[in-house]
Amino acid sequence: MAWSLQTAPELSDLQFEQWNKLLEARTGVQVSAHQRGFLQIQLSRRMRELGIKHYTQYYGQVSAGMQGMVEWSILVDRLVVKETSFFRHRESIEFVRRFLQNRINNQSLDDSFEVWSLGCATGEEPYSLSMVINDCFELAGLEPYHGITATDISQPALQHAREGVYVKRKLEPVAPDERARYFKIVDEERETYRVIDKLRDRVCFSHGNVMKVSEMPLVKMDIIFCQNVLIYFRRWRRREILNELAARLKPGGILMIGLGEVVDWTHPKLQRVADERVQAYVHI
Ligand SMILES: C[S@@+](CC[C@H](N)C(=O)[O-])C[C@H]1O[C@@H](n2cnc3c(N)ncnc32)[C@H](O)[C@@H]1O
Repeated sequence: MAWSLQTAPELSDLQFEQWNKLLEARTGVQVSAHQRGFLQIQLSRRMRELGIKHYTQYYGQVSAGMQGMVEWSILVDRLVVKETSFFRHRESIEFVRRFLQNRINNQSLDDSFEVWSLGCATGEEPYSLSMVINDCFELAGLEPYHGITATDISQPALQHAREGVYVKRKLEPVAPDERARYFKIVDEERETYRVIDKLRDRVCFSHGNVMKVSEMPLVKMDIIFCQNVLIYFRRWRRREILNELAARLKPGGILMIGLGEVVDWTHPKLQRVADERVQAYVHI
């Protein structure tokens, strides 16, 4: 049924604050005052589906034990921004290509090459990384163990990512030769394409909350890629999370964030890479 803002019950100041606090405590994401309408729409749309009339009643439901967690996992998907694209920041992805190419040239590869994409949304980011990594290894005629771990808080986004199917429009940022090598058409009429199995097999998608990095059982990483996630967080929280990510890097590994996403952070073990096209830090 069509639904509009006019029919949504008004979210009071107190309720806005209450929901915002819950969202921030659980995800780190803050909803600013001008996004209040968005919060109101998403909450009331879900309440309508459940036949709930009052925000307070729904709040009680979402906060209540295991049952609440199930409902929360549905709601959170609707409250976070999942905008993404292939090669969203081409310079960062090309930086990864140069980094790996150098390692191959210097014969300084480890037994494994591990990459982590945090806040991977519907998969475009980890698949873009997977394309350039595959390019490098294919060119060098190498097939070392390598894998990409891709985590996100949204289960529906992860499901989409695992399927790896995208409409033609989503492939616009992908160069023609990359398209030809890394995608297969699945439906001519709908113009949908699937990422080839060789890449999909390398990416492991799993549920993970950036707020709980320390609880994630991951190996040390060569590349940690975290873009367009921390921008929704308070500055002190961004720094805390980056400190945790720094501890997950191998010596010589790279932490890559979105350009300008964090301005006032340094770490004793990390050095900012002298390339103004990207915001990358190397573990010394
Ligand atoms: C704007 S998208 C960015 C996607 C991709 N990194 C990019 O740059 O294109 C932000 C993603 O972060 C995820 N996210 C938000 N809060 C999160 C959290 N606390 N833990 C894990 N993922 C989170 C959202 O579900 C969403 O998929």
